[in-house]
Amino acid sequence: METLTINKPSKTTDFLPLNGTDHVEFYVGNAKQAAHYYKSAFGFQSLAYAGPQTGVRDRVSYVLQQGKIRLVLTTPLKSDHPIAEHIKKHGDGVKVLALSVDDAYDAFKQTTSRGALPYQKPQTITDEHGEVRISGIKLYGETVHLFVERKNYNGVFLPSYEKMDSHYNPKATGLLHIDHCVGNVGWHKMNEWVNFYEDVMGFRNILTFDDKMISTEYSALMSKVMSNGNGYVKFPINEPAEGKKKSQIEEYLEFYEGEGVQHLALATDHIVETVTNLQSRGVEFLTVPTTYYDDLIDRVGHIDEDLEPLKRLGILVDSDNEGYLLQIFTKPVEDRPTLFFEIIQRKGAKSFGAGNFKALFEAIEREQDLRGNL
Ligand code: FE2
Repeated sequence: METLTINKPSKTTDFLPLNGTDHVEFYVGNAKQAAHYYKSAFGFQSLAYAGPQTGVRDRVSYVLQQGKIRLVLTTPLKSDHPIAEHIKKHGDGVKVLALSVDDAYDAFKQTTSRGALPYQKPQTITDEHGEVRISGIKLYGETVHLFVERKNYNGVFLPSYEKMDSHYNPKATGLLHIDHCVGNVGWHKMNEWVNFYEDVMGFRNILTFDDKMISTEYSALMSKVMSNGNGYVKFPINEPAEGKKKSQIEEYLEFYEGEGVQHLALATDHIVETVTNLQSRGVEFLTVPTTYYDDLIDRVGHIDEDLEPLKRLGILVDSDNEGYLLQIFTKPVEDRPTLFFEIIQRKGAKSFGAGNFKALFEAIEREQDLRGNL
């Protein structure tokens, strides 16, 4: 089983207090169509828009919201834009993990004085709705953390964005907030990024999975879960490990052409309803053999849900000593085998489904094999 050290006291004081995730920005080839996909398939709602009509001449961004989750989808308008380089290299993917803070200037000072590389120097942006203060630091690959302070702002999203009205508003699917966000880093780089989160961000390592725990007959990976002081923000970090065949992390690194965000886990309180809805709207999920359910109750103990819908949808269950969780993983949401989503419902459990890793990774390997990448 995993090493669970959730109650370990923090070694450092919380010099970087975080209020949670502010938003996640994707750089994509066609933001208009990506926005349509996340609205149609996942039930996100139109929130805001920036582009030539709002005075932004070089790119277009759509902001979508569901529960507390805000996605920003951004496309450059010309090929000589740095965002175009990003898309050419990585395909569609996550560029920005933006964190909500009370003081963006201090967040920048605290992290850069501890060794973070600056991405965006602190700046105050104002419009008729107030002021937003933003700063940013570099993360693994070309990914970045922005620190967003919006306590003196009451606009729809950020200055230069306007409310986005659409006549097409598919229903939400019950997604509430980002539970965790996982990064894939290169060979033997996991501890470097664990140290970064500990030393630079004041996070702590709450869970560790070694390659013995996360391996199938063919491939392996290692993972450490980093959490900030109040536990609002969790970033597991994966690295590939040696196996008989190619690790799924290696496949990601090859096709993303570098390190980056592997999956976003989105929380729901009604996973059967949410996943039924997502499936009917075309979201593709990984499936496990139905034998997975044969000894499920022996393995995890009593669960409130009927087994039949879980089995039909392919929802996985795992437990720890605080409760259980239900989870399911989508296939990659772009043609490169890179970013995917997890849908998770926690019923007490604070862990990440280690009991499902084998079944899950065998499912991923079947897909990898179909792509000729195993
Ligand atoms: Fe996850």
